[in-house]
Amino acid sequence: MGYKAKNLSEKIRDKSARVGIIGMGYVGLPLALEFANAGFSVTGLDVDAERIQILQSGGSYIPDIPSDRVRDLVKAGRFHPTTDPDILKTMDTVTICVPTPLRKTKDPDLSYVMNSVEVIRRSLHPGQLIILESTTYPGTTDEMVLPALEETGLKAGKDFFLAFSPERVDPGNKQYTTRNTPKIVGGITPDCTQLACLLYEQAIEKVMPVSSTKVAETVKLLENTFRSVNIGLVNEIALMSDKMGINVWEVIDAAATKPFGFLPFYPGPGIGGHCIPIDPFYLSWKARQSGFEARFIDLAGQINSRMPEYVVEKITEALNHHGKCLKGSRMLIVGVAYKKDINDVRESPALDIISLLIRRGVQISYHDPFVPALQVEGAEQRSKDLTAETLEDQDCVVIVTNHSALDYPMVVKSSKLIMDTRNALKGFNGSHIIRL
Ligand SMILES: NC(=O)c1ccc[n+]([C@@H]2O[C@H](COP(=O)([O-])OP(=O)(O)OC[C@H]3O[C@@H](n4cnc5c(N)ncnc54)[C@H](O)[C@@H]3O)[C@@H](O)[C@H]2O)c1
Repeated sequence: MGYKAKNLSEKIRDKSARVGIIGMGYVGLPLALEFANAGFSVTGLDVDAERIQILQSGGSYIPDIPSDRVRDLVKAGRFHPTTDPDILKTMDTVTICVPTPLRKTKDPDLSYVMNSVEVIRRSLHPGQLIILESTTYPGTTDEMVLPALEETGLKAGKDFFLAFSPERVDPGNKQYTTRNTPKIVGGITPDCTQLACLLYEQAIEKVMPVSSTKVAETVKLLENTFRSVNIGLVNEIALMSDKMGINVWEVIDAAATKPFGFLPFYPGPGIGGHCIPIDPFYLSWKARQSGFEARFIDLAGQINSRMPEYVVEKITEALNHHGKCLKGSRMLIVGVAYKKDINDVRESPALDIISLLIRRGVQISYHDPFVPALQVEGAEQRSKDLTAETLEDQDCVVIVTNHSALDYPMVVKSSKLIMDTRNALKGFNGSHIIRL
């Protein structure tokens, strides 16, 4: 290990290293708080002035993070939220946690990552460790980030250190958090890997090095592709079970009693969030560059993205059965977040279902205890209270997200017709309950 690496490793060990994190979202904020908690002075940089203001005043906008956790660390002088990119000059380590969406063409959009790299490049100095955490295609760190940073004349592995470490945050998961979810680390050189591992070991229970940044990048994409493909499979099984008059939920629960060789996945109204609908396309895009068509990924994407339409078809059929037509009917969407007990509506299938229904002339309102307001087809709607009167007033109630704290017995009792896309009403019976 060279002098600069030794110097940085001493600073990490004695917690005097100044830790910077770019992007104070679902990934960056919990990570910043873990490092602050471990005794580091942590700076959280974001371009969103409103978010930074909330953090500076000791608040939180992420349900998994209670405000008092932020407040205590800000007060203790260990967490410094800021919009000032010049602060990176004084940082010993900088971790990038900014969005990696898809363009309309389903190609990777690395603009947020490359903007952050540009900001880092301007203040890059010898002895600094840079880590990319944003989910991305294999090769991003050494084909895009490395050359941009080496334009400064500084050399990775000698003057500065560069690694990739995929984030595995699962919002709403009470058991596995940033601290106890093992962290994968792959560096450009062995020193880069070692320093990044050493940093994470200070705040995270288990850290696992891999041989390269490409391996680390692919690990994350394998994990999310695994989910996407299995959800696609179970959605297809749900569609075929429906045709054959079989209750797919009962089938899965029974299959899940097998103690080996089976992992339960559940059908649903479609996939949402920042990861599962997006990340597999980062992998298939990169594979295509190498002349390889990733068929499983594309097929799962097709099946999963058709689920909102399928839900609308099932609702139309059910209304028809009750002598009503879709156009002019009133519907309450219960749950609009992309999964239960969180407030994130990014890529939520509820948005697609709502748009499809509105375009077919349905009067839509919604209830979601985590999402007070929602942009629906260009207009803002506010969450309605879930009351017996509201439910009685609907031609159909559509459960899109199975939040835990909802009064499902009241939903069953007061609704004329219910489309349950999540088996939230498991154990309830009635001819007015339609399941996916
Ligand atoms: N949310 C998840 O569950 C999850 C899980 C695993 C991995 N990831 C990955 O982690 C990355 C971040 O996701 P997220 O959910 O935290 O996103 P997010 O949208 O919640 O947060 C990103 C933050 O980065 C800020 N930002 C954007 N450009 C910036 C810039 N140039 N400088 C400073 N700040 C900037 C945004 O204002 C925002 O606050 C993505 O690549 C995502 O795929 C997310």
